[in-house]
Amino acid sequence: MSGGAVLPGTVTAVDGPAEVAAAAAAWLVGIAEETLTRRDRFRIALAGGSTPRTLYQVLATPPHRERMDWGRWEVYFGDERACPPDDPASNCRMAREALLDLVPVRPELIHRMEAERADLDAAAAEYSSMLASTCQSAVSGSAPRLDCVLLGLGDNGHTASLFPGDPALQVRDRWAVRSRADYAPFDRITVTYPVLNAAAHVAFLVTGPTKGEALRGVAEGSVPAAGVRPPDGELRWFMDRVAAASI
Ligand code: 6PG
Repeated sequence: MSGGAVLPGTVTAVDGPAEVAAAAAAWLVGIAEETLTRRDRFRIALAGGSTPRTLYQVLATPPHRERMDWGRWEVYFGDERACPPDDPASNCRMAREALLDLVPVRPELIHRMEAERADLDAAAAEYSSMLASTCQSAVSGSAPRLDCVLLGLGDNGHTASLFPGDPALQVRDRWAVRSRADYAPFDRITVTYPVLNAAAHVAFLVTGPTKGEALRGVAEGSVPAAGVRPPDGELRWFMDRVAAASI
């Protein structure tokens, strides 16, 4: 990284997207194994985007496929676009095709966001309640504590579907809300900052040459992704050298 900009958390910079996926997969195997020595389930929120997709493909392939105790995974989503679940734009469809349909995750433990519904506020409110009822918080009444949250980074510094200037950025008392992107598909459901910041482990997956402004914005605290700083959790950045050099 040039220019002296410092990201919060631990940065792992490797050669290219395949190496990013391999490094993130190795990390994920470790935290899943460690979590499952203490807990019955490994609760993880998945992200959309091309970089997470490469990670999912690696996880669905030996040797990682055999190293995961998939039956004990409970899967959530960090965000979803307002479209049917079989739409090519659906984050859930992508995660199914790249991972969830290829490994023995229990279908009843996959919690997709129903962003195809006409009433997105109601769908978000139900997701928020479901999160609270299936995933314990560290302190009563605070946000549910997921074991792991995977995140992408948009060129404009958004993460999950927390977009610059959107009211969703201000929400502290609900765990999932409707939000709006600044490009199509516009309407979204997203988890909120309290959920991201309550997690035990959070990883950003960032590749390619277009992320420099967003990464500088994170270092300077000026973009939505900068609001992800789990006080009692691990924050990791897995990026390729092109992205790391662009900061
Ligand atoms: C969206 C995208 C978006 C994506 C980032 C990073 O819903 O608008 O999924 O949030 O995660 O733009 O994407 P890449 O991993 O492809 O760089």
